Amino acid sequence: MAEVIIVPDQQAAGELAADTIFTLLARKDDAVLGLATGSTPLTTYTALAARVRSAGVDLSRVRGFALDEYVGLPVTHPQSYRAVITREVVEPLGLDPARVQVPDGDPSRIPHAGDAYEAAIRDAGGIDLQILGIGRTGHIGFNEPGSSLAGLTRVKTLTEQTRADNARFFSSPDDVPVHCITQGIGTILRAGHLLLLAFGDEKASAVAAAVEGPVSASSPGSAIQLHPHATVIVDEAAASRLS
Ligand code: F6R
Repeated sequence: MAEVIIVPDQQAAGELAADTIFTLLARKDDAVLGLATGSTPLTTYTALAARVRSAGVDLSRVRGFALDEYVGLPVTHPQSYRAVITREVVEPLGLDPARVQVPDGDPSRIPHAGDAYEAAIRDAGGIDLQILGIGRTGHIGFNEPGSSLAGLTRVKTLTEQTRADNARFFSSPDDVPVHCITQGIGTILRAGHLLLLAFGDEKASAVAAAVEGPVSASSPGSAIQLHPHATVIVDEAAASRLS
């Protein structure tokens, strides 16, 4: 059963999540973070960067692994998750870019990219703390409904709903890639601690299904119930369908 913490707003959620991550980093200077992109973790990354700056902590030994990447979007595209992670996480936190990996979405390398990513996570000693958002479809990473609960990093197809939700980051909805490479739910479940954040009414059903619904591939987020240490931080709107 996940621990659920309801906070007033995204700001408070970011402060709380940053506290949790900062505590880990203070204890383990070579911690391995699993990094989500999208809007949800932004207040967390900002709050964490502020703490790191004011405490003068050196994060040069920290490693990071992004959850996912679009297939076929050049890494130089501002919305590639490589570019987003560099801008939102690596630079503000002062991480060593060489120690932060993003799945390789280059179509020519796709056949081996999943296995290579799994090997890199294993070689780093596994992910200590995985930051997660959740999609309106209930996806975690880009594991859309129907994804195996045991799957590892591989190519997946985005649902039309997710492509429409992410169209806000692109000049035209047609520009949102159709395919992605994502850590699997099996990969996510191997992390030491899951920290899932969600905000707003539009996430309320997905949060309820993840926290209280039956564990099922139809609600990928429900896999967090299988994890011994999962924390869910939500605002009141996202919590509104919890019983
Ligand atoms: C991002 C990711 C996705 C997002 C989810 C929510 O790396 O894997 O699962 O966390 O789509 O997106 P936002 O936060 O933009 O609502």
